[in-house]
Amino acid sequence: MDNQTKSSSGASSFTSAMNLDQQGVSSIPQLYVLPPSQRPNTIHHHEHVLPLPIIDLSDFHDQSRRYQIINEIRNACKEFGFFQVINHGIDESAINEALKAAEEFFNLPHDEKMCLFSDDVHKPVRYGTSLNHARDEVFCWRDFIKHYSHPLSDWIHLWPSNPPSYRKNIGNYAEAVQDLQNKLMEMIFESLGLNPSYLEEEVNGGSQLLAVNCYPACPEPELTLGIHPHSDYGSITVLLQTRSGLEFKNKNNNWEAVPLVEGGLVVQLGDQMEVLSNGVYKSVIHRATVNVDKKRFSIVSLHSFAMDKKIGPAKELVDDDDHQLPKCYNEFSFREFLQFISNNDITKERFLDTLKIME
Ligand code: OGA
Ligand code: NI
Repeated sequence: MDNQTKSSSGASSFTSAMNLDQQGVSSIPQLYVLPPSQRPNTIHHHEHVLPLPIIDLSDFHDQSRRYQIINEIRNACKEFGFFQVINHGIDESAINEALKAAEEFFNLPHDEKMCLFSDDVHKPVRYGTSLNHARDEVFCWRDFIKHYSHPLSDWIHLWPSNPPSYRKNIGNYAEAVQDLQNKLMEMIFESLGLNPSYLEEEVNGGSQLLAVNCYPACPEPELTLGIHPHSDYGSITVLLQTRSGLEFKNKNNNWEAVPLVEGGLVVQLGDQMEVLSNGVYKSVIHRATVNVDKKRFSIVSLHSFAMDKKIGPAKELVDDDDHQLPKCYNEFSFREFLQFISNNDITKERFLDTLKIME
């Protein structure tokens, strides 16, 4: 099948989660029902002595404060693979305006959103549902629009022109998050014992993919998920959620909720960070649940090194000579990840596992 036929047949079988919500279905279609072992259970025990990490970034320019923050980042990355940040420098108004534009986009008529529909993961802007609706065996209760965002001037003209505030509001937020990720990457590198300016140009000039997600209210939230378990491919992800729903897999392999922190942003480590740190830090496996009474939105900023930049373990963190710190991963680029997800079902096989070097 050529691409043209593929994408048009994809579009004809397309039903968004918003369509189902608007139809007021009282049960979910069979396609969304997970096997019992994969359904979310409602009880989440917090299994740690330590609270889930919330890191206050205020005064991070102050040397002694910065030292303290870097320690907190190191502990959080080792124990959980994510943390939340507060006083991160992004205005509340920029956040609220971005969320408003996101909500207005998903409220647009179906046909208008379908103009941006694609299930080709290489498209710079695409509207879709589930994870990859052309391939998914079980659907998830989510609609999304994803687009590249950095540098903004390369991409913004391809973004939705409706609602009229979309480009400005989402663009402001995207730029603010890009600045925040530059700071966070410096601190994360420092927490690994690397130079804070490690790969500086590649960090500043890397890729930013914004995934704007809409999870409508769901009549049977206990049978399905908003997004299936996965880890993100990039270096770090900065995630904004309007309600709780995000969950992570802890060290005991149990799911725990990431609580909603007012004004906070969630920072998650992705596969590139696990590889770069030679496994000192692990990328966090996460999923999202849905709820019965209200829509949930998230704006997820996925940062990675440039499309063709190969990322392998930092040589400072590898010592092959005396086998103290053997290299544990093969290198990979973002493009290779995209190739993998176009050809594989990531709910069955993790991309990261294909990179591990077994001793
Ligand atoms: C993602 C993701 C979770 C959420 O888009 O990669 O993990 O809460 N989203 O929206
Ligand atoms: Ni994710």
